[in-house]
Amino acid sequence: MALESGIDGWLRYAELPASLCAKQHQYSSILVLDEFQTSPVYTAAKELQDGLKRILGQSLELSFDITAAQQPSIIVGTVDAFSKLGVDPPSEAFKADGFYLNTQLTNASVHIMGESERGALYGTFEFLMRLAQGNFDPVSIVSNPSVSIRWVNQWDNLDGSIERGYAGPSIFFRDGEVVEDMTRIAQFARLLSSIRLNAVVVNNVNANPKLFSEKNLRGLQRIADTMRPWGIRIGISLYFDSPREFGGLPTADPLDPDVISWWQDITAKVFEKVPDLVGYTIKANSEGQPGPLTYKRTLADGANMFARALQPYGNAIVMYRAFVYNHHLDESVWTNDRANAAVDYFKDLDGEFEDNVICQIKFGPIDFQVREPPSPLFANLRKTKFVIETQVAQEYLGQQSHYVYIAPLWKEILDFDMRIDGQPSAVRDIVCGHTNVLNIGSDTTWIGHHLSLSNLYAYGRMTWDPLSDPVDMIQDWSRLTFSLDQTVVDTITKIAMESWPTYENHSGNLGIQTLCDIIYTHYGPSPGSQDGNGWGQFTRATATSIGVDRTVATGSGNAGQYPPEVAAIFEDIDKTPDELLLWFHHVPYTHCLKSGKTVIQHFYDAHYEGAANAQTFPKEWSKLKGLIDDHRFNHVAFKLEYQAGHALVWRDSVNNFYLAKCRIPDEKNRVSNYQWRIEAEDMRLSGYKIVPVTPAEAASGGKAIITESNQNPGTAMAKIPYPSGKYDIAVNYFDHTGGTSKYEIFLNNQVIGRWSGNLQEKLGHDFSEYLDGHSATRITFRGVMVESGDILKVVGEPNGTELAPLDYISILPEGIVD
Ligand code: GCU
Repeated sequence: MALESGIDGWLRYAELPASLCAKQHQYSSILVLDEFQTSPVYTAAKELQDGLKRILGQSLELSFDITAAQQPSIIVGTVDAFSKLGVDPPSEAFKADGFYLNTQLTNASVHIMGESERGALYGTFEFLMRLAQGNFDPVSIVSNPSVSIRWVNQWDNLDGSIERGYAGPSIFFRDGEVVEDMTRIAQFARLLSSIRLNAVVVNNVNANPKLFSEKNLRGLQRIADTMRPWGIRIGISLYFDSPREFGGLPTADPLDPDVISWWQDITAKVFEKVPDLVGYTIKANSEGQPGPLTYKRTLADGANMFARALQPYGNAIVMYRAFVYNHHLDESVWTNDRANAAVDYFKDLDGEFEDNVICQIKFGPIDFQVREPPSPLFANLRKTKFVIETQVAQEYLGQQSHYVYIAPLWKEILDFDMRIDGQPSAVRDIVCGHTNVLNIGSDTTWIGHHLSLSNLYAYGRMTWDPLSDPVDMIQDWSRLTFSLDQTVVDTITKIAMESWPTYENHSGNLGIQTLCDIIYTHYGPSPGSQDGNGWGQFTRATATSIGVDRTVATGSGNAGQYPPEVAAIFEDIDKTPDELLLWFHHVPYTHCLKSGKTVIQHFYDAHYEGAANAQTFPKEWSKLKGLIDDHRFNHVAFKLEYQAGHALVWRDSVNNFYLAKCRIPDEKNRVSNYQWRIEAEDMRLSGYKIVPVTPAEAASGGKAIITESNQNPGTAMAKIPYPSGKYDIAVNYFDHTGGTSKYEIFLNNQVIGRWSGNLQEKLGHDFSEYLDGHSATRITFRGVMVESGDILKVVGEPNGTELAPLDYISILPEGIVD
């Protein structure tokens, strides 16, 4: 089977088996109702030509001759162009960018009619993706988008790095400038357009005003020109203080006439290069960014200044981010609550915004956590349009070194009924659009993990139709991306659908948030980092109790920001669903959940369940050996194996942290009691020394060993205290930046394994430079025959600042994971 890089994502158009192709008849040609090569209709025709060749082996000519319309051809064009052929539009109403796909015509032709040129392209992809799944069922369907704003955001910096990007450098920028080669940008536009997304904001919300240099404006023009034939418009993020930092003005006050005209001039320059710019995205007065409040103006004053600058240019909009909060919050004040910020800042401004201002609201009140309720701001803006912001980049969900299929999480939020004025008000029905922090990079997987690209596919489909079912989407995606083989589809679907509950179970339950290190990389476990700083992602964990009291009665009042019917649920501890209990209530660890378990026992059990389930993923995946190409098989197998090991790090770190905090033992006596472990610090050491690890719970027993210098290897030895038999030998060690250590493990001086600390080369998450929950990892050597009393020895060779760190070795009988 040919090796595949993943670059075509779900658009690889694998050749169908002959048995399926036989059902399909031969078309005579592709009739293109548009001759302009930059038109999305022309792009559609080229895509049809390419797709039919690859899927069905049919080579078709493009024809522009409308007299050919009588032959059984595939005709693609806009509704207007079809009317010139005498073909009526469908009886069902068309919305902007909708399409009509008809394969039920008596002359065996196929009509792909777009409400717009973009719509014709969407219809084409629909047709091709059906064929690519071997689906030849005759159809006559009209498909319309739920909303017109279907965007993605890239957090790309001009130097080529990507904030929270886990798949290599930017495809847009390098060394302060727009790249020369547009190949990847066109490929990216193709992927986006196939899932009916229509705009990409190309630079980081933490923006750099050097984007406005002459050279970069010309670069933006090239990006826009490259993406336009795919129906993709570009937008840009602005740095609020640009007039000062780039324009040399003394102020960036949004009411200052010089500032206003500076932005008008810049806007004119931008539109000269990109006449269809979709708009400006603004992050202001957030996380240290300047904004209107810096100049004692309101957030609406700031947003409206940009909105007015854009008004002369058609339908361009200002995406004003509601992610405004104080990141120096005093935790000692019980009622201080970051979750209140968006409503506190924006509610009173409702009605004060220009028509072309749209508020961009993160799905939850905090920040893309593993579980959040919907943002209460969705129910508080009645006169201002808003979009929901989600994140394909798995910033708080394992950063693509773990696989988490996020569609089920999004669905829960989109389906949530806010009960505004006591009326049905599902989030999906009250938003006017969607945007998503995507952060693809130049890696051929786009996103860093072949499976994680399913999130982009699902995001696109859900923006078009928010009722899309996560299972249907992952099945379609698996067929398109990997194979029509049912084992492949079922296996990927199983892993995907279990991945979010699994991650939630081992990362943070009951609404306590993802318990990762929020001060540093946002990746591995560090439950203590939530509290004791101003970022406001508090858990308020004490020795006896945990959770954030967000009730009106005794807490921050956040529950009261929701409409009364919803507020009544969140205010009442008995009505609040368990999964959000600690989001809204502060309770003793001994509080009894609806399940009958105490909070602390639920923590322990869920972490064990989550970590145990993560172990099943590599086993499931192994069924696909030989059914998909080896390259992608091995890539995913490696990642899932890593994920399984790191899930154990999560489990133990979080459980030990809370055990140390509340001293309530695990009823099942698992936490801190590991029967099959040999701690590195208990081994006979030479050239190695024992060090404490911070945070302590990131290492088994709170300690690890590192070599005494970075010159000489260290050796750790132990006698195996277990009965003779066949075991899996798992080594937990730390792999951080600063060097690539080498390890060898021996049993009675026979090598049983070798590895090096080179995960930086294989994984894309934000790496740590320390021994901690980010760098802790595991490697397993399976099926080793061991005699009781055998001597186990690890030799670690340090490199740079990585001193061959080791935590423990587990000698695991079959079926035991610990
Ligand atoms: C998170 C993220 C930042 C980002 C910010 C935002 O806090 O960690 O990197 O800048 O969100 O959405 O603006």
